[in-house]
Amino acid sequence: MTRHFLSLSDAGGDTIAAMLNDAIDRKAARKDWPKARPDADAPLAGHVLAMIFEKNSTRTRVSFDMAMRQLGGSALIMEAGSTQLGRGETVADTARVLSRMVDAIMIRTDDHAKIEELAHYAEVPVINGLTDLSHPCQIVADLLTVVERGFALPGLQVAWLGDGNNVANSLIEAAGQMKFTVRIGGPAGYEPNAGFIEQARAAGAEVILTQDPAEAVKGAQVVVTDTWVSMGQPGGEKHVAAMQPYQVNAALMAQADPRAMFLHCLPAHREEEVTNEVIDGPQSAVWDEAENRLHSQKSVLLWALGKL
Ligand code: CP
Repeated sequence: MTRHFLSLSDAGGDTIAAMLNDAIDRKAARKDWPKARPDADAPLAGHVLAMIFEKNSTRTRVSFDMAMRQLGGSALIMEAGSTQLGRGETVADTARVLSRMVDAIMIRTDDHAKIEELAHYAEVPVINGLTDLSHPCQIVADLLTVVERGFALPGLQVAWLGDGNNVANSLIEAAGQMKFTVRIGGPAGYEPNAGFIEQARAAGAEVILTQDPAEAVKGAQVVVTDTWVSMGQPGGEKHVAAMQPYQVNAALMAQADPRAMFLHCLPAHREEEVTNEVIDGPQSAVWDEAENRLHSQKSVLLWALGKL
């Protein structure tokens, strides 16, 4: 069966744990330079990943490209606007054609239904590089960052502050898969997707919604936020004003566990959702988190292509 990675549930908790272990091992085995030197086993030699971008990206684009190089394969970038997809060729026909020429497809798009359609017609794995609904690759990197700082996932207390966006949805999905608690601190009307919350709770995770930022972070070992207005969302003054009490600043971080780490998937809007003092401070793990996009993406690719 083709292994698509549209959500964390496509892999499941045991596989995510295996991905994290593989990422830790591969990261430890590498020297930092030269960056594109293939891993000793080059497990994806001869494999090609097509990357379709219908939205901007820095980390996802570079980490998938470098992941393929380090695994011994290669990647090609398709900016949707310069392909026939951008001129109306159907998603289904694009899936059929790419399946004849490449080994896997990564897509960053808006409507989640589009990636589901692509996966339905593709004969090669399709990987979710972000949709308006979810961002599972980001969360594998976040979990890797948490684990390598010595925290165990089961029983972990994670606080999310601000907009209940696609990253929040995938974080909640991860809570269900890996059995940790998530407290969402955000304004009414900006909650994460109800389906993800129900699914995580049904899997035994505690998911708490609160409008009190202090309650969200109290005792948390991980404090996470993201831009208040995601790509392609309308935003506006009312939206930004509603988010203001959820800014992650030093006073809020002081209410978390003293060992708490700060995560942000980036790009950050400094002095909006997070202050410079926090993102540049000793509790911030955002640069490790960004680097871990590369190491975790390698594990996602290996799993999707049946090598893990
Ligand atoms: N965090 C993240 O997905 O970064 P990019 O938008 O730069 O890919």
